[in-house]
Amino acid sequence: MAEEDAVTTSPLTNRFDDASFYLDDPHRVYAALRREDPVHWYADGPFWVITKYDDIRFISKHPELFSSAEIAILGDIIKDRDGVPGPPRDTILFRDPPEHLEHRKVLNHQLTPARVNAIESDVQAVVADVCAALPGDEFEAIHCLAEPLPVNVFSRLLGVPRDDWQRVIWWSTVITNSGGGMETPETMAATYAELIPYLEALIAERKDAPRDDLLTVITQATVHGEPLTPLEVVWWAITLLAAGSETTQSLIAGMLWAMTQHPDQGAELLADPELVPGAVEETLRWWTPVNSMARRATTDVELRDKTIRRGDNVLLVYGSANRDEEEWGDDADRWDIRRENAKGHLAFGFAEHFCMGAHLARREVRLLVEELGRRAGGIELAGEPIRRRSTLATTFDRLPIRLVP
Ligand code: HEM
Repeated sequence: MAEEDAVTTSPLTNRFDDASFYLDDPHRVYAALRREDPVHWYADGPFWVITKYDDIRFISKHPELFSSAEIAILGDIIKDRDGVPGPPRDTILFRDPPEHLEHRKVLNHQLTPARVNAIESDVQAVVADVCAALPGDEFEAIHCLAEPLPVNVFSRLLGVPRDDWQRVIWWSTVITNSGGGMETPETMAATYAELIPYLEALIAERKDAPRDDLLTVITQATVHGEPLTPLEVVWWAITLLAAGSETTQSLIAGMLWAMTQHPDQGAELLADPELVPGAVEETLRWWTPVNSMARRATTDVELRDKTIRRGDNVLLVYGSANRDEEEWGDDADRWDIRRENAKGHLAFGFAEHFCMGAHLARREVRLLVEELGRRAGGIELAGEPIRRRSTLATTFDRLPIRLVP
């Protein structure tokens, strides 16, 4: 980056790779950046911090200018792809066009709204199971609800035998708990050493006897006419697990938290299922479970009054775009379950890499809130919540709640 481009807006903006920054209401900083320096060079990263809705859409729409290959964003902010713990990750998240689309086709038809309608009864069964196992009306919602629900949905759709679901929850907790302290190189290596052979054995079974599950679909898929290698199939499964579990957990946590903080709207939501789809979109916007993603510039690009140089990393701060007052108006910070345009949020990303599990995640949370509505008239906090220390996920480690009549 050229020196004349460097801007230091305020000391507030100097902590983007520190999880404490995200615990400490980052929205004040985002609002200042949107106003004063929306394309901000964070020299300590180093990376650009992009905070405006339109700019993030522009970058996401131009993978030829901003690549996803070679870059990863995990519990610690931006890393080179090679810096990510675990085996090499040949997943679609880290591919650019035209290859990216070829790989996306593997599951493109499996997670559409029509497919999600078709599997709704499976998802509903998991929701009912998880709720039936609640220890009573007062419980810790991360451990009892938000974590097991998406992982069990994954296990059911993928075709993991019921007896192994608990193991999958554990593996998922280790590989996706961003910033939770479990992702040390040793625990990650130990987890992959169990998970990969486990999945390989399930894949081998599918080869001999195809079933009606996602693992069979991936096993039978081809890219450029060639079947995927067993390791590519394994990585598809792990991508789905990693991409779908902590993310959906965070959305569930955000939804429950919002309901405790806005009891009137929470009660309305539990009483009226018709309000739920809109409230899910509004929570995606307001809470933004995945706070940011990263790209790397493939060439020099002018954005607003800045020059992003070839090779520079950029951080797309969805959490900021989703509160951009130019897009959402002056009440952007408010959780409003009747907000009309909430669906335009960027919580699932935008364009090329738009989340493949968006419809499924929405459905899981909708069915959960409907189920809670059959059990309770309100939700309140039952203890001190503990936010997760993470640069990536907006969520809690602990969220004690009480269902009230
Ligand atoms: C509330 C829950 C979820 C949120 C907030 C979320 C968020 C995201 C975001 C922001 C991206 C874009 C990444 C980028 O642009 O680089 C993404 C991609 C992806 N998500 Fe999700 N996700 C959620 C649930 C799920 C679920 C349940 C699944 C799987 C069933 C899933 C599978 C994927 C996959 C495979 C991609 C990669 C798409 C690509 O690179 O083309 N996600 N997700």
